[in-house]
Amino acid sequence: MSSNKALQSELPWWKRTTVYQIYPRSFSDQTGDGIGDLPGIIDRLDYVKWLGVETIWLSPFFSSPQADFGYDISDHFTIAPEYGSLEDCRCLIDEIHARGMKVVFDMVLNHTSDQHPWFLESRSSRDNAYRDFYLWRDGRKPYGAAPPNNWRSMLGGSGWQYDAETDQWYWASFLPFQPDLNYRNPEVKRAMLEMVRHWLGEGVDGLRLDIFNAIYKDASFSDNPRSLRAIPSEDNPGGFFQRALHTQNHPDTLAFARELRGVVDEFDQPSRFIVGEVFGSADLLREYCGPTGEGLNLVFLFKSLRTPFRARALRKLIGEFEAAFPEPLHPTYVFGNHDRPRQMERLGNDLARARLLAALQMTVRGVPFIYYGDELGLSHHPMPLETARDPLSERFRFIPKVLLPALRKRGILTNRDECRSPMPWHGGPHAGFAPPDAAEPWLPLHPQSAFMNVAAQREDPASVLASYRRMLRLRNRSLALSAGELALLDPPADSSKVLSYRRVYEDTDRHEAADVFLNFSKTEVPIDLRHLPRGSEARLYSNLSDVPVEAYGRHVLRPWEGAVVLRDQTQ
Ligand code: GLC
Repeated sequence: MSSNKALQSELPWWKRTTVYQIYPRSFSDQTGDGIGDLPGIIDRLDYVKWLGVETIWLSPFFSSPQADFGYDISDHFTIAPEYGSLEDCRCLIDEIHARGMKVVFDMVLNHTSDQHPWFLESRSSRDNAYRDFYLWRDGRKPYGAAPPNNWRSMLGGSGWQYDAETDQWYWASFLPFQPDLNYRNPEVKRAMLEMVRHWLGEGVDGLRLDIFNAIYKDASFSDNPRSLRAIPSEDNPGGFFQRALHTQNHPDTLAFARELRGVVDEFDQPSRFIVGEVFGSADLLREYCGPTGEGLNLVFLFKSLRTPFRARALRKLIGEFEAAFPEPLHPTYVFGNHDRPRQMERLGNDLARARLLAALQMTVRGVPFIYYGDELGLSHHPMPLETARDPLSERFRFIPKVLLPALRKRGILTNRDECRSPMPWHGGPHAGFAPPDAAEPWLPLHPQSAFMNVAAQREDPASVLASYRRMLRLRNRSLALSAGELALLDPPADSSKVLSYRRVYEDTDRHEAADVFLNFSKTEVPIDLRHLPRGSEARLYSNLSDVPVEAYGRHVLRPWEGAVVLRDQTQ
């Protein structure tokens, strides 16, 4: 293993950080209208700090008709009234910083709402000054009655939407009310980059880039090649029987990643970062970052969503990610977010496995992203399609119900309400999500809220929450865990049971190592620690207990225990 070289003081903060994703609509409602809001989030910042997370990523709360709950923006500079005011937004940024924490905003650069003033202008006539802000084309075949080409949206079906008023079609990569912007128009690019600068200037520390892989479409508007793939996957975003050659991961989008990074790097003290929601093979995703990290700082790696929670499968995945994202690149494992089945579903709703996932997530190399509620072990919350609020569910109504669990196993969710339940804070009215006299929450409370809530788990050292907190604290105090290189170790026992790796951080001043042993079985597994170098302090920490023990001799891993031996060999 080579040394990390960079001095601790030279390490960018975002490489060592930990991120907690808040879906603002579902986190905390202070005003009592049943919808979470920014003042509600401010009320709960002390909890996030207590948990031990440094950075908060907020899903969008800008002005929006909320047809896709904020991912359809009608004004990037103002706040949707149900979430609060600009003043609340500034206060939130300040309050986060006052606690020594960082904040990431969600930037939807690819498209706007169809209610954005640009689009209202654009669709008003063919010669409007904003017409070219979006992608308009004539239809083809007899009298323009068919879409301009065969391109499919990310959700299947043609992504072209017909506008009768001007007798042309506009392109939407996602839902019809989310028209794509035309980045080949320099005015569009300039305006969007100014918007990015605006929020960085307001003190935002990082940006999550929504469906960044769709930004540029091929200027030829040629048909996409046909393929045999029906269902898109995280490493092959084509599907619906075509390759997304001209609609996703265009070379111009890769170039734009570097241009955007240049803009973000205009801001320093502190430095900022961008993390992309992009889909493609590991090689392609690495290109987004650039060979030496001059593009997107991080990209989400969704393959972890589909990887079985087993020692061998995860070992293979770690090997792949390590090979594809060596230093100075940095992998970003995804275990859940506001679009995906709750992670507990893949864990068979087993709390012991959830405690082990906390150990894996906080010890593997890469920036951990924790989706709100996952730190409690909240289960997936199936909801009837008939009452769904998510616009996607309408689209997927035709899929027979019996197939939904299999799709969820692949990380695909057709009703995203199911992972957006109000955060359960305590067992009282509205689970503490909203004041007792508030309107009904916008989505039904999670059925486990009465007992799987923050108040109950805070008191319980055996809770999933306690494991998350323990592992976060351990990671925060260890340079090896937060910034060290990773090497897979031969498992000390049956490789189907134990996953093991070593993290090493080294610079001219320090040498720290952490050996990680994760027991993916329901039986006890003895491990031999006598091979560890002697003569230095070594302590064994566990996801299951607060008190470290001396790490020498034989240790018996409990079922689903994650143990970390920390060694500081700084002379
Ligand atoms: C991203 C977001 C998702 C949103 C979509 C369109 O995938 O995560 O929530 O609906 O883009 O903006």
